[in-house]
Amino acid sequence: MEKINVLFTQEEIEKRVKELANELYEKYHDEEVTFVCTLKGAVFFACDLLKNYKGDARIEFLRVSSYEGESSTGKINLKLPLKAENIHGKNVVVVEDIVDTGYTLNYIRNYVLEMKPKSYIECTLLDKKSRRVIDINPTYSGFVIEDLFVIGYGLDYDQKYRNLPYIGVVVKE
Ligand code: IMP
Repeated sequence: MEKINVLFTQEEIEKRVKELANELYEKYHDEEVTFVCTLKGAVFFACDLLKNYKGDARIEFLRVSSYEGESSTGKINLKLPLKAENIHGKNVVVVEDIVDTGYTLNYIRNYVLEMKPKSYIECTLLDKKSRRVIDINPTYSGFVIEDLFVIGYGLDYDQKYRNLPYIGVVVKE
């Protein structure tokens, strides 16, 4: 395995995810929430977020893709759609791994809003704000990061490294 510089340790991630789960609970209390986990990158984050969420929750999965290697193609493909009946009239929280150019989140936002949820917000673990091409800001974000290509805790580089329990940067020799 290549050398990896750790950006956020397992403990730092756990702490932040708990905080986000509590913030979301403060918002919804007794109202049921439908979390939409975007595959594959957000799967670890969504599982930990839901395990720490104290209210009534459902989970749905959505898969879109735009990335090849280290760069976004800007062309979004819907690989696994949602069922409208699972979104219509629900309090929806889209759970994303990372927002980079914003193309993906923008696509997801428009796609989900067409299904007329009762309410809609987004929660991303990471936000590369400085890379934004589309003017879009997720409602909640775990960490704002520099323009770095990060891996681990669900995030991949060509499908590798998703299983790391921390978030890091591959050191290129
Ligand atoms: P965007 O459409 O450019 O905002 O890209 C969002 C998607 O690109 C994310 O959901 C990730 O799947 C992927 N992505 C963006 N930056 C990174 C990164 O640093 N590491 C791994 N995947 C990334």
